[in-house]
Order: sequence, then structure tokens, then C-alpha cells
Amino acid sequence: MPKTSILVARAIFPEVLQSLEQVFEVENNQADEVWSPAELTRRMQGKVGALTTGSERIDAALLQANPQLRIVANMAVGYNNFDVPAMTAAGVLASNTPDVLTETTADFGFALLMATARRVTESEHYLRAGLWKKWSYDMFAGAEVHGSTIGIIGMGRIGQGIARRAAHGFGMKVIYHNRSRLTSALEAECKATYVSKQELLQTADHVMLVVPYSAESHHTIGAAELAQMKPTATLVNIARGGIVDDAALAQALAARQIAAAGIDVFEGEPSVHPDLLKVPNVVLTPHIASSTIQTRKAMAQLAADNLVAYLTRGQALTPLNTVPGAVA
Ligand code: 8YV
Repeated sequence: MPKTSILVARAIFPEVLQSLEQVFEVENNQADEVWSPAELTRRMQGKVGALTTGSERIDAALLQANPQLRIVANMAVGYNNFDVPAMTAAGVLASNTPDVLTETTADFGFALLMATARRVTESEHYLRAGLWKKWSYDMFAGAEVHGSTIGIIGMGRIGQGIARRAAHGFGMKVIYHNRSRLTSALEAECKATYVSKQELLQTADHVMLVVPYSAESHHTIGAAELAQMKPTATLVNIARGGIVDDAALAQALAARQIAAAGIDVFEGEPSVHPDLLKVPNVVLTPHIASSTIQTRKAMAQLAADNLVAYLTRGQALTPLNTVPGAVA
């Protein structure tokens, strides 16, 4: 019997690819070419399953051109690259990779917070440029992290990971805003207090964004929100590009309306707003919050396991929608 055909749309760990090749006929992209939507649609032809990353958009047009498709497994916890209602309507299962990246991503949120508040990259650039000639009392004086107030917008698994680190590791006061309140047991565990978005923006010393991207969360932080923050405050975005209005942020940083920002995700990435590149008080990283070898392997393996589980047993491990089961 011929093997079921799947597409692995981006380069992944060879051992994960090999494990898929034992079960499926696999078209891969180990050259890691960036495919246009038209090229992705073409490569999907004849494929029953696909492994994607956040860079590949699965929309109604692609689904219509590929009625044979049964599952798309995203190697990411975020899935704003999926039109889930369109996938459900087309009978295509969607899956993501929750849990396996929670702690690693929370670690990175903290790394970015520390680098931003303590001006790590700004001062390194100064040193590398040969500008360091003497010690001085206020040289690159930053913002206190321990004992300060962190405001977390988006209190899912990663937000809670940040809260635990902040409360238990750094003695910070934790306030949060979320669509829904945590249970009182979880609030106690995270030592977190629910506040309105306005109160959070006005009182936090450090604002951390961990909210999923959707039409409602688009520009959660824009000019009006930046204006409410303390001039000494920092902002960290490890959520998604589009949660922050990058142009407004660059302006606020240039005007020192807030002290500094740490940004891992960008509107229209991998393009970065040119004005963000001009301001010194921002730490910029290329969407690497989940990037440790162990975690990226776990994400790739979970995406692969979803394909195998769904296409051989009719049940995915971490589904995002419900469709009639498919066993190829
Ligand atoms: C991924 C992420 O690296 O999981 C997510 O939602 O943002 C990152 O961990 C990225 O989306 C690639 O798929």
C-alpha cells in the first residue's frame, strides 16, 4: 500500500524528519526556502497532512485548492497563521504545540526584561564601539527589577510562568490583566492580582505582553496606552507582532515617553520598523523566545506526533478544532 503523502513546509531537525519518513511519503524543505502563498498551495497538492511553522498561512484559498488535506500541524503554540474556522469548515484538523515551550519562553521573557531594564545591549554597543574610557556613577543606570511591579497582559501558561519567576525569584509585585480572571488558587500560586488594563499601564514598572494575537488584541499597545505608562517603565513583547503598534513604540522610545523596550516579535517580521532600529533604548531579538535546542526539538516532535496520531489513529494529541476523524 502506498504511504500517505505529507508536506513538511520548513527545515526541521533531521531526526524528526526521519521519524516522519518511516510512516509517510514526505516532501520536505530542508533547504528552508521561503515559499510564497502560491508556492505553498502548489506544494500542498496531493498532501493529506502538513507540518508548518508560524510563517505559513493556512487560509480558505489554500484549503479550497487542496480538498484532500486532512490535518495541518503547526510547530508553534500561537496559531494566528491558521484560519481555524475555514479549516473546520473544510474538515481539516488544526493542531499546535502547547506546554512544551512554556518554561523556555517564560525564561526568555525574563531575559528580555533584564536586558531591557538593565540596558545590557545598549551598553554593550557602547563598549564595542570603543567609547568606554572611564567609570562614572550613573553610567547606563537602569531600572530596578527585583522588588518592582510587573504588569502582565495575557495570563495564559506563559504569563503564569513569568509571574512565578517574578514573584518567587525576584520578589516582584505581580499585577495582571487578562480576558478572564485566574482561579483564586492560581492567583495565589502566581502571587498575582487582577487589575484593569488602565491600572496596569499606570502602575507597572515593567509591562510584559504575552497575549495571543487576534483582531481584538491588535495594537493592544498603541500611542494611547504608551502615554499612560510611567516614563521610567519598560515594555517587553514576546507575544506576536501586531500586539504593539511598532511605529508608535519607536516614537515613544525616541521621546523617552517610556524608558526602554525589549521586542522579540514584530509587525510584518522579519521586517523591522526602520524607526525601531534608530532608537538606542530598545533590545531587539529575532523571534527566538522558544529557541533552545531541547524546546525546539520538543515542538517539532509534538507537531510530528500530531500528524502520526491523527493520520494513523484518528486522534491528534493537541487539536485546536474538532472535525470528523481521519485515518488515512
Ligand atoms: C515559534 C512562537 O518559534 O510558538 C510560538 O507561537 O511564536 C515560536 O515559539 C514560531 O512561531 C515558529 O513556529
